[in-house]
Amino acid sequence: MGRHRPHGEIFERALVTGASSGIGEAFVEVLRAAGVPVVAVARRVDRLEALAERLGDIEVLGADLTTPEGLAAVEARIIDDRDPIDLVVNNAAFGTSGPFVTLDADRLEREVSLNATSLTRLSHAALRAMVPRHRGHLINVSSIAGFQAAPGLAVYAATKAYVTSLSEALHAEVSAAGVHVTALCPGLTRTEFQRVSNTESYVDRFPGFAWSSVDKVAETGLRDVARGRVVSVPGAVNKVVTGLSAVTPRPLLRVIAARVQRA
Ligand SMILES: NC(=O)c1ccc[n+]([C@@H]2O[C@H](COP(=O)([O-])OP(=O)(O)OC[C@H]3O[C@@H](n4cnc5c(N)ncnc54)[C@H](OP(=O)(O)O)[C@@H]3O)[C@@H](O)[C@H]2O)c1
Repeated sequence: MGRHRPHGEIFERALVTGASSGIGEAFVEVLRAAGVPVVAVARRVDRLEALAERLGDIEVLGADLTTPEGLAAVEARIIDDRDPIDLVVNNAAFGTSGPFVTLDADRLEREVSLNATSLTRLSHAALRAMVPRHRGHLINVSSIAGFQAAPGLAVYAATKAYVTSLSEALHAEVSAAGVHVTALCPGLTRTEFQRVSNTESYVDRFPGFAWSSVDKVAETGLRDVARGRVVSVPGAVNKVVTGLSAVTPRPLLRVIAARVQRA
């Protein structure tokens, strides 16, 4: 049986999407270090198998979450009552940077499909299984990019605004049933995200203290979902940025976001 007690909370079995790299892989490592069995989901099955070999007690589930078959396989695993899952981490997502009109529309559609549509379906499966049990945890990995519009990362930021909004509403709907939903909103974190989203220039543009480690992001998410915190922002710099976003008038926020993108 799994045991992860960041604040007295016990996770018996977790499912993590996007487990083949970055923040998702860190979630798997932190959970396995605490003895929690994990179902690891991603397309690159070789990476997941290597993780299973290294950490043990990992169920490998290869799935492309932008396909109906991939989604159905993961939904089926989440609602399967044998070896029930009491922590789902919807982490898989990608970004696309550049002026909206220059970007490939099919890629943007896949981005919405992964970041928003698949996350919605997997949240639905998770809560449908957890609410009748009066127990369970759902972490939806969002981003501080979702706190304001982001010219140059427009679709990505819009999907993350959706994820945060959805998670806050779901928390309000299910918390009385004993189920916790948390929108985890990391800021800059070095992963494959920068290569995939073509934002590698950010690595030089932002100072070291602005970046969080993948371990810190995963630890913060697990701690905050166990505490029942609805919106979780890892790192002091990110807390200041999101705090300022909340009190800055939207027209000014748009000007600042455009300047940051051009810097
Ligand atoms: N890195 C940052 O600065 C940052 C900041 C804020 C929020 N975030 C968020 O953190 C989360 C994790 O991102 P990351 O930074 O760790 O990026 P990453 O290293 O690129 O990891 C993305 C993960 O998503 C999986 N994935 C991509 N497309 C998929 C698909 N179609 N079906 C299933 N899985 C898919 C990838 O696995 P496969 O390619 O093997 O399928 C990979 O495991 C995302 O939600 C991201 O938006 C990241």
